[in-house]
Amino acid sequence: MNRTPSAGMDPARFVDALIENPAGVFSSDLPAPSTDQALFVQRIGRHGPRLVDLFLTLYKNRADARKWLKRLFTIMAESWDRRSDELRTLDRAREVDPSWFQSEKMVGGVLYVDLFSDNLANLFEHIAYFKELDLTYLHLMPIFSVPHGDSDGGYAVSSYRAVNADLGTMKELTELARVLRGEGISLVLDFVFNHTSNEHEWARRARAGDPVYQEFYHTFTDRTLPDQYERHLREIFPTVRRGNFSWDEKMRRWVWTTFNSFQWDLNYVNPAVFCAMAEEMLYLANAGVEVLRLDAVAFIWKEMGTTCENLAGAHDIIRAFNAVARIAAPSLLFKSEAIVHPDQVLSYVAPEECPLSYNPMLMALIWEAAATRETRLLEHAVKKRARLPEGCSWVNYLRCHDDIGWTFDDEDARQLGIDPAAHRRFLNAFYTGNHPGSFARGVPFQYNPDTGDLRVSGTLASLAGLEQALDADDPVLIQMAVRRIMMMRSIMLSVGGIPLIYIGDEWGMLNDYTYLSDPTKVSDSRWVHRSRKKWHLQRSYSDPAALEWRFFNGLKEMIGLRKNLPALRNGGMEHFWTGNPHLFAYLRQAEEQQLLIVANFSEHGQVVSRDRLSGFPEEAVFFDHIGKTHHPAAADLALAPYQYMWLEVRDVR
Ligand code: GLC
Repeated sequence: MNRTPSAGMDPARFVDALIENPAGVFSSDLPAPSTDQALFVQRIGRHGPRLVDLFLTLYKNRADARKWLKRLFTIMAESWDRRSDELRTLDRAREVDPSWFQSEKMVGGVLYVDLFSDNLANLFEHIAYFKELDLTYLHLMPIFSVPHGDSDGGYAVSSYRAVNADLGTMKELTELARVLRGEGISLVLDFVFNHTSNEHEWARRARAGDPVYQEFYHTFTDRTLPDQYERHLREIFPTVRRGNFSWDEKMRRWVWTTFNSFQWDLNYVNPAVFCAMAEEMLYLANAGVEVLRLDAVAFIWKEMGTTCENLAGAHDIIRAFNAVARIAAPSLLFKSEAIVHPDQVLSYVAPEECPLSYNPMLMALIWEAAATRETRLLEHAVKKRARLPEGCSWVNYLRCHDDIGWTFDDEDARQLGIDPAAHRRFLNAFYTGNHPGSFARGVPFQYNPDTGDLRVSGTLASLAGLEQALDADDPVLIQMAVRRIMMMRSIMLSVGGIPLIYIGDEWGMLNDYTYLSDPTKVSDSRWVHRSRKKWHLQRSYSDPAALEWRFFNGLKEMIGLRKNLPALRNGGMEHFWTGNPHLFAYLRQAEEQQLLIVANFSEHGQVVSRDRLSGFPEEAVFFDHIGKTHHPAAADLALAPYQYMWLEVRDVR
């Protein structure tokens, strides 16, 4: 008897058997694992019981839970049937080498297709550029169909199956994924699964009064429940709209909208929503997407009387999606986007949930240390919170398309005698240019007058001082800004995890204030750091006098170094205490290689005194891969302003 649902067995009976006795379904009659069908069945054997368990836990109060579970297995089987041979081969390769993304060879880039190359068709011509930067991971910001005008930078998706017509077609996207894969580059896209746009087919039907689709969202006839929920909720975009609910005149109902009023939160309490979104997810996987960035993970599950952030249900939903992927698109990898308290960020990172995660705490604290020229908060936090479970990896970044929020732990700050609220006020003032002596040119984002909360927009170069230095035409300040940027990059590339370059930063792009004259962008200052690629500057990459050249080639060189230092493979980083409050240092180790990485966050020279290096053999010599110089371990180690060193410990006995 063939038990593979995709090979003809009635999925309902198959799932019944699976629910009754998961192990029993696989105890006999397994086809030889040489066929793809057999592999699919094996994967159900491995991950199906977990999926069933999660699904029935999530939907324990729903009488129709089993019906939807059967539907889910049918979706997986159908999707598997449609999966291409090439992707099935990739599935097997990733199962054999599940730690592929932890390699020191991994380097990521992220870009907006329209701002980078106008459309997908032109993007093909720039693959050589990605190769020049040695990228192995390319994240395209949301490219699906969206409402006209403001679409929150593409995060209001109207269809997960249609590319925005201005950018191209699904066929081009699939082809791009294939071509990139041939070049050793994994395509990364967002899975915007917390909400759809109010123009998505489901929302249209809900607005037209269809109760089935009204149940796809959280809708309310009056304010009673919204007001009760609201007591415990944060506001994410308070300058555009207060509260978390929007009135839809057509539907004559309130609808839950955590972000903008045109982004309707999906109702995962309804198993139909889980199944529908699983189908969309597998569609993207079959188009060749290798990594999905799970957008806004913290918000997907809501319960009255809670903050509706980071709830157990959110984790169960992601774990269930993960199990679906392991069965029907095993090479698909999840990356979590949780810009929340550092402990909560960690809670999403697990092989069965999101093996990859942005590292917002490291990002924010690098900027914190750049402002204060002191590294104690950064050190304290990484000592406590840098370690990830086995088989997982950080995605380290300095800038992305979003704002910077000061997501450090208040207790960490207090332990160091820092008042967290006052410190956040200082950082906001510093980075929005309202602090005397600040080098930064940032722009405020989403000031909340009730809480005083504020976040910051701006490009890497403008926040790190280059814009101000260029305006002042001051060679010393320019020099300092360049060195500061390079030093920060050095950490991103060496601290452990996938470094992610926000494309444009590789040549030092400055803030672009043209968004102020665009009515669809003016109320969202994040557009200041989302600017059009200035291809004409590419000529300066070969002009040694140009700043662009220094940034681009400096980065290329550092990437080249990273790729040849096995100690920079994912692994752990061990904080190294230099005794100097302006330095940030850590050890990286793999097999025979040990690296001591040191970065100077101040514009003055700093020293690691020799007694701090006494853990290394006295005869040892450090070879600095960055400066190509040797330093005896028995002497003080001196660093110039903003200098960074990647010191390989070489014992010369
Ligand atoms: C994520 C995105 C952000 C977007 C929000 C709503 O946080 O990074 O740009 O505004 O989700 O989708």
